[in-house]
Formats: sequence, structure tokens, C-alpha cells
Amino acid sequence: MKKIIIANWKMNPSTEGEAVKLAKAEDEKNVVIVPPFPFLKSVKNVLRNASLGAQDVFYEKEGAYTGEVSPVMLEKLGVAYVIVGHSERRRLGEDDAMIAKKVRAAMDTGLKVILCVGEPLNVRRKGKRAVDVFIKKQLSYIKNKKNLIIAYEPVWAIGTGKNADPDDAARVAEVIRKKLPVPVLYGGSTNSRNAKSFLEKKEIAGLLVGGASIDPREFGKMVTIARHIRS
Ligand code: 13P
Repeated sequence: MKKIIIANWKMNPSTEGEAVKLAKAEDEKNVVIVPPFPFLKSVKNVLRNASLGAQDVFYEKEGAYTGEVSPVMLEKLGVAYVIVGHSERRRLGEDDAMIAKKVRAAMDTGLKVILCVGEPLNVRRKGKRAVDVFIKKQLSYIKNKKNLIIAYEPVWAIGTGKNADPDDAARVAEVIRKKLPVPVLYGGSTNSRNAKSFLEKKEIAGLLVGGASIDPREFGKMVTIARHIRS
């Protein structure tokens, strides 16, 4: 299976024009572009090779939920993937039970789910066993593996310039796959210098890229590296 590279732009860029330009520059096969909600439609219109993803979704189809976006709305816009349970959303108050509801609603609508899991620094400091227990608990809420991808993103590695050790990331990917046999991505301060060390692991199906995904040159290099990995 080809390695997949997902561009999570987070709350970037500021304007539609910049988003369209960035999307055109990153429009490659085996890539998923995940722009902010307001740019989904215009990004979709320029993609020829990459797939489209959204950064979050709500668990109801419609109703009085100010500020939320339903899976049906996303699906009708041509969104194929949705990120659920990113640590930046968990930090704002989403818990495992809510995340499980979002996963189910997105799957029921036919969206592919990229579920983010990963331990904070205080758990990592306790050692590998504590990490495994923490991640298995995050996964214990998930009952269905259809259309599911899991992204292992250690919280302490996100936006910090610190990486997981690739061997340990591969080990955690295996722990995840024993519980839920689905593709597992790695995310956390990946860039063109370290992408290969993760992508060459057979346990790691691809990368979930944050900061480096809003730099088209850097992202392009990562896509090229992924393309040259034999799997
Ligand atoms: P960075 O690549 O900026 O560390 O972000 C990773 C991430 O959170 C992707 O979802």
C-alpha cells in the first residue's frame, strides 16, 4: 500500500486566495488536504489528484447546535476524510465519549475518519507501559473499524520540534494495530528531514503533517520521499 501524507493546515492560511494557491501547490496523489471549513469548497474545486479532508465534525445531522458542522454537510461538499479527536480539540474540552460519537456519526455518513490518539508528556515520562495503557484507553471507546485510520500523535511532539523515536512510534503503531487492525499514521513535528525515518517503518502507513504542510516546498519534499519508499 502506498504511504499517505495528510496536510492538516490547522487555522491557516488567513484568506481563500492563499488557500487555493497552497492547495494547487500540494495537489498530489496519496495526499489529503485538510483546510479550515470556510475554504473546503474552493479547495475542492481546484484539486485534481489529492483528496479533501475536514479538521473536525459534529455528531448530529442537523439541529440547534450553534457553530457546529454536520457530517452530512461535509459529505455533500465532497469531503472524503475527517480528522476527529485531535489533541488541539481535546485540549479545548472534547473527551473520549464525545469523540466516539463523532467517529460513529462520520462513519455512518460514509466519511473516512482519521482518529488522533497520543499521550501527553507526563504519561510519556512514566515509560512505555504507561503510554500503551493511555492509548489503549483512548481506543477503547471506538467500536467500529470500517473506514478508520488512526494517527499516533504524541501531544508533546506536536508543534514542538520534538519527534517520537521512529522505532518507538513503530512500536506504538503495532500496539494500536493489535487492538484495531487499521492503517496507523505518525504525526508530530514531521518535516522533510525526518519524514523518511518514520515512513520507512512498515508499521507506519503515512504522516499527519501540521506546520510543514503550510510550506509547499517542504511539503512537496515530504511527498516525494513518501513516493520513493518501497512498501
Ligand atoms: P506539527 O507537524 O506542526 O507538529 O503538527 C502535527 C499535527 O498536529 C498534525 O495534526
